[in-house]
Amino acid sequence: MCNGTCTSDTDNIYQPHLARIVRRLPQIKDHRLFQLRLEDSEIRQNFSYRPGQFVELSIIGTGEAPISISSSPTRSGVIELCVRRIGRMTEALFRLPLNSLVGVRGPYGNGFPLEQMRGNNLLIVAGGLGMAPLRSLLWYALDNRSLFKEVILMFGAKVAEEMLFKYELLTLLDRTDMRCLLTVDKDEEGTWPAQVGVVTKLFDLFEVDPKITYAAVCGPPIMYKFVSKKLLEKKFSKDRILMSLERKMKCGVGKCGHCMIGYKYTCIDGPIFTYWDAINLPEMI
Ligand SMILES: Cc1cc2nc3c(=O)[nH]c(=O)nc-3n(C[C@H](O)[C@H](O)[C@H](O)COP(=O)(O)OP(=O)(O)OC[C@H]3O[C@@H](n4cnc5c(N)ncnc54)[C@H](O)[C@@H]3O)c2cc1C
Ligand code: FES
Repeated sequence: MCNGTCTSDTDNIYQPHLARIVRRLPQIKDHRLFQLRLEDSEIRQNFSYRPGQFVELSIIGTGEAPISISSSPTRSGVIELCVRRIGRMTEALFRLPLNSLVGVRGPYGNGFPLEQMRGNNLLIVAGGLGMAPLRSLLWYALDNRSLFKEVILMFGAKVAEEMLFKYELLTLLDRTDMRCLLTVDKDEEGTWPAQVGVVTKLFDLFEVDPKITYAAVCGPPIMYKFVSKKLLEKKFSKDRILMSLERKMKCGVGKCGHCMIGYKYTCIDGPIFTYWDAINLPEMI
């Protein structure tokens, strides 16, 4: 699989590989989890990626868009993408029947620095669609449990009906080898089985040693501000706060310049940045 640095004469970095939609699993309103199976068996077998990377997903005749990989590389066979219906390409994707063919280029982007993170605690902090890339990291860590010390998930949604992957994540509440903290801002019916309140309140529920912990954060823009403030108060160093930051992208491979911020291409230098990088780049957060 071309990862954007193809060298052979036959490789074209803009040439998508065909993939079939084998499942479309409804999530919350306007969000679906698409399971894609690459058509070519050799490409399928060689498709490897790291949590935090994305693909360029295309619909023939409509266009393409960057979408984070939601599945874990520990589970091969299908690529899972959690997509929010928002514009031209995603509208067209939601209209496609099962078994339709779509195009996939990638994987692109840097992904999480797993080699550095191994042997440390892992604190995953997600809000809304931010769970899409972080779900890949979560399952990677749970499938390779011995590679990490403590694993803690903090995930917040406005209400239970808006929590992505709700049923999958609720099954993690009983696990003894991780802490799963799921919060909703409001629970008017009083039926939510976990926490109630904004995601930053979850910081009061546990202690971790910031010197041996990496925090992985992804969520709506406002969340970065409050979560990074909390992490800094907890004495996390700026290079142990890893943030998945989206920017408008086109080529995905560092050629078109659409995603440039300062001297960085967010498609190849990101989308995972340390807090240190983020505050030193104009308008990054
Ligand atoms: C690295 C990366 C990973 C992404 N991962 C996912 C994912 O896992 N799931 C998912 O649903 N989407 C994801 N996105 C966002 C997705 O690429 C955009 O929503 C894309 O524009 C959808 O294409 P469209 O043609 O349907 O919408 P468009 O017609 O392009 O846009 C519709 C609206 O969305 C706005 N928009 C476009 N791009 C972004 C963006 N990056 N952030 C915020 N608003 C935007 C536009 O300004 C417009 O208002 C990701 C983006 C990046 C850069
Ligand atoms: S999207 Fe083209 S350079 Fe990054």
